[in-house]
Amino acid sequence: MKLHHVIEAQQFNLESLHHLFDAAQYMEQVVAHGGTTEFQKRIMAALFYEPSTRTRFSFETAMHRLGGRVISTENAAEFSSVAKGETLEDTVQILNGYADVIVIRHYEVGAAKRASAISRVPIINAGDGAGQHPTQALLDLYTIRKEIGGIDGLKIAMVGDLAQGRTVRSLTYLLSKYQDIKIYFVAPTLLKMKEDILEHLRERNIWYVEETDLDKVLPEVDVVYQTRIQKERFGDRISDYEKCRGVYVINSHTLSLMKEKSIVMHPLPRLDEISMEVDKDPRAAYFRQAQNGLYVRMALLSMVFS
Ligand code: CP
Repeated sequence: MKLHHVIEAQQFNLESLHHLFDAAQYMEQVVAHGGTTEFQKRIMAALFYEPSTRTRFSFETAMHRLGGRVISTENAAEFSSVAKGETLEDTVQILNGYADVIVIRHYEVGAAKRASAISRVPIINAGDGAGQHPTQALLDLYTIRKEIGGIDGLKIAMVGDLAQGRTVRSLTYLLSKYQDIKIYFVAPTLLKMKEDILEHLRERNIWYVEETDLDKVLPEVDVVYQTRIQKERFGDRISDYEKCRGVYVINSHTLSLMKEKSIVMHPLPRLDEISMEVDKDPRAAYFRQAQNGLYVRMALLSMVFS
């Protein structure tokens, strides 16, 4: 299946998701055998205006494992000509002459879409402010499928910073394509899921509930999707941040309330919202989730190049 720009989760349908997941499963074997040289003539540009560990390194590793090459800036705002006032559009225009795909992380909602409007080569959205993070949602869904065995009928609690978290927005769009999904949005009142996402769920008749009490939903769900309270998105609202931080923590007590066959996920990085003691529990899926990012991004790149 051919892909061009990857901008938002809504652009995927069930058929393209299943194709992608099959390709990601195949990529697990490719990595196990050391990679391929199939895409040795391809160049990926990684243009990151915001910090990243997993997304940038997994995209770059994906490209290396596919046999391709990478040009990269980890802090575009400081180390590219953006520091001299160059626009995103001009930067993308220039990279069109050098690379076969451009992976962009930006602090503004809609930045990847703006880039795609003027780019001949595919743009992949690696996170646009509090907008979307579609490739994270794809690896999240791949992880759920792999760990739980399927997605239809899933009960998932999304926890923490739902107002400013882009991963939960993209993941909700993807989950809404499946049957009999139940979503429990657990957030402090200041960080509730935004109305556009709730409206999308109502339009598609997807069951959801908004909760503030995490303990109440833990015995119900198959997946606890914990998120970080994102200090960097509060600006000067420091007192709001202080009110919300530490409200929901996954620890031994939390685990004792969860189903034996459930899992804990987190897009990472984590601060103190998942205690280290949880790491050794088999239900802690977040490091396996990050690993899956490599396979899913290899699959995405191969589909963009095919
Ligand atoms: N999950 C995620 O986007 O992590 P990074 O910010 O480290 O890329």
